[in-house]
Amino acid sequence: MTGAAKHPKIVAVYGSPRRKGNTATLLKKAVNGAQDGGARVEEIVLRDLKMSPCLEIYGCNKAGECLLKDDFQKARDLILASQGLILASPVFFYTVSAHTKILMDRFQSLWVKKYWVEQNRRDQQTFNRKGLFIAAGATKGKKLFDGILLSLRYFFEVIDMELWKALLYRGLDFEGDVLKHPQYLDEAYQAGKEFAEALSHGSKI
Ligand SMILES: Cc1cc2nc3c(=O)[nH]c(=O)nc-3n(C[C@H](O)[C@H](O)[C@H](O)COP(=O)(O)O)c2cc1C
Repeated sequence: MTGAAKHPKIVAVYGSPRRKGNTATLLKKAVNGAQDGGARVEEIVLRDLKMSPCLEIYGCNKAGECLLKDDFQKARDLILASQGLILASPVFFYTVSAHTKILMDRFQSLWVKKYWVEQNRRDQQTFNRKGLFIAAGATKGKKLFDGILLSLRYFFEVIDMELWKALLYRGLDFEGDVLKHPQYLDEAYQAGKEFAEALSHGSKI
């Protein structure tokens, strides 16, 4: 799905094992903002899905289709039918959560499809989807998001997605910590709304 649409389709992916954790709370705000901005939003809670990690059997070599049949296919199809993705993950050991990483790794089948099966050229890559990324970590170090942003960049490339904005919050540890920062919640709502508007105007704002 490409181009601008009056009511763009956005998929919101909850990547934390905590249902009401910091990233889930921020993502819910962004979802509310996106809906108020005119988007149709489909929510995926990764902890509720049955999704095997990639087993590296490369059954996808033949036609670019993952041979493991589980909830990945539904999540993949929703993401590929959308114009925008809002992905939220906590920082776990300087990268995304295991739930989020499993989803990313299963998209290796799409990488195989694009570059091995269809032999697309990476220098002719087009980016026709946009992503809003939300992350939270407990500590405050300068490099806290370096690892997670690298993983994200290569994952987004596979799904033809450019990073539209990243909301990165330090110093959030316990469930509910984000509620002490109403400005973060306002920022997430506003970003969701502007994201929907950017998708519907086909601009970056
Ligand atoms: C397995 C695990 C690994 C973590 N690794 C880090 C880390 O590398 N750096 C950090 O600052 N916080 C780390 N944290 C703390 C979480 O990032 C932090 O609590 C975050 O706010 C959780 O977000 P959530 O409530 O959305 O799950 C880790 C927590 C867990 C459970």
